[in-house]
Amino acid sequence: MKRRPLIAGNWKMHKTVPETLAYIEAFKSLVAGVEDRDIMLAPPFTSLDAAERALEGTNIYLGAQNCHWADEGAFTGEISPKMLADIGVTYVIIGHSERRHIFGETDKVIRQKIEAVLKYDLIPILCIGETLEEREAGKTLKVLETQLKEGLKGFSVADLKSLVVAYEPVWAIGTGKTATPEQAEEAHAFVRKILAEMFNQEFADNLRILYGGSVKPENVVGLMARPDIDGALVGGASLKPDVFAKIVCFGRME
Ligand code: PGA
Repeated sequence: MKRRPLIAGNWKMHKTVPETLAYIEAFKSLVAGVEDRDIMLAPPFTSLDAAERALEGTNIYLGAQNCHWADEGAFTGEISPKMLADIGVTYVIIGHSERRHIFGETDKVIRQKIEAVLKYDLIPILCIGETLEEREAGKTLKVLETQLKEGLKGFSVADLKSLVVAYEPVWAIGTGKTATPEQAEEAHAFVRKILAEMFNQEFADNLRILYGGSVKPENVVGLMARPDIDGALVGGASLKPDVFAKIVCFGRME
């Protein structure tokens, strides 16, 4: 089983258009020729169009950090998957823990967003993960199972063939505390097992599961060495082109 690694950068609410363009100019030459893994950048909505043009002809995919579930309508301040597809976005991050915890997104809303993203042939990256309180109460696996079962309820294997899942323990996001490779592997293997039960083994074996939460050049190799860790979703360390390029190029530069 060989899953193609995906290293994704989530800039969150960072970078203006000129900052985006300066980043891409530096980053694209640092990762040029890296063809054995997928690379994705998710700038804020305001930079997507400029980023799409700047990424043309490179090996870097464009992602969005969120979207609405409708095609259009009276939803002030929202952006639809139709709009994202129109400007050349490939991936959409859905259900990031900041969306769940700061903006109150529920599993039900997240499921609707996945359906909307799939309708436009965009690739959803479904984020799941437990809080510190849930981990300390021994509820980690139960939380992951519920988020998967509710978020992916009613879809078929054919619907979800492009799906990516990101395991992001909330206590590790932006805190500098990374899950150990053992903790991450335990969660990833469990996610794969649940997906095999929900769908089938082949689907689960082909699905890419990313780890997110304080990934850095110093810890990416240990994480990626684990059998069920297929990539990384990187926040803070994706904001500098040289640092993110080191993460993207893990295992190549030694
Ligand atoms: P971090 O964020 O790398 O800054 O911890 C990860 C994420 O939120 O995707």
